[in-house]
Amino acid sequence: MKRLDGKVAVVTGAASGIGRAIACLFAREGARVVAVDWKPEPLEASVAGILAEGHQASACLADVSNSEDVQRIMRTAAGTHGRLDVLVNNAAIQILGRLDETSEEDWDRLQAVNLKGVFLCTKYAIPELRRAGGGAIVNIASILGLVGDPDLAAYCAMKGGVIALTRAAALSYGPEGIRVNAICPGDVDTPMVREYYDAAPDPAALRAEVSSKYALRRIAAPEEIARTALFLASEDSSFITAGVVVADGGLTAKCY
Ligand SMILES: NC(=O)c1ccc[n+]([C@@H]2O[C@H](COP(=O)([O-])OP(=O)(O)OC[C@H]3O[C@@H](n4cnc5c(N)ncnc54)[C@H](O)[C@@H]3O)[C@@H](O)[C@H]2O)c1
Repeated sequence: MKRLDGKVAVVTGAASGIGRAIACLFAREGARVVAVDWKPEPLEASVAGILAEGHQASACLADVSNSEDVQRIMRTAAGTHGRLDVLVNNAAIQILGRLDETSEEDWDRLQAVNLKGVFLCTKYAIPELRRAGGGAIVNIASILGLVGDPDLAAYCAMKGGVIALTRAAALSYGPEGIRVNAICPGDVDTPMVREYYDAAPDPAALRAEVSSKYALRRIAAPEEIARTALFLASEDSSFITAGVVVADGGLTAKCY
């Protein structure tokens, strides 16, 4: 018996990085995956990879910050597969900047994708999860929702919001058997973090410096975060809700 046999899972931001790894792992574990992203070609590539392994997935091109798109995602999942059991809110963007350097437009853009996107997907998934008799929501937050980064002020604020929303939703829907948890990864080797390193004058030096701060002396692979998401999406974590799981290789354990 695989851990998500018979389950239908929506994974947002499934065209790249952590979302792609989650979509692949969930499909290998028996889920029918609805892979969501706003980038058509890499999204099709994610789905093609899953189908080529003999597992089940479909692509849903959508912008998580758009209410009509999000309602269509949930209708598609429930309409095509008859149910929805798992939602992974993973899609996000990153915009560099100290608070005073952040434009109002950038703040609004980050808010729309990274926080309102989580709100919308959760809001419109809840009726379907309820109809399925319960389910699991996994929000990909960040350690930057727990600690600060002076150069990512708006991103930190949105990830803090995701953690707060996780706890509130867990309390609201726990009585209906819907569990809501968040994962706070440290650096993960994905295009998002590579872009961040590439913006530095010496990307290789920055990468080495960042890795040296981790107890494990390395950053994570996307598959490691995917395995944490699988735990939270499956019955293996049946008594965990409102959890904030820090998957950061020991980075935030250290004070000095
Ligand atoms: N990579 C890291 O170091 C790291 C660390 C902590 C948390 N995270 C979080 O993990 C999640 C995944 O990050 P990643 O590193 O894999 O990023 P990524 O940039 O590789 O992938 C993000 C995906 O989300 C999609 N996306 C962005 N906005 C969207 C929208 N409005 N609608 C639909 N799709 C959208 C992108 O097209 C992309 O495919 C994010 O929530 C990110 O904040 C990443």
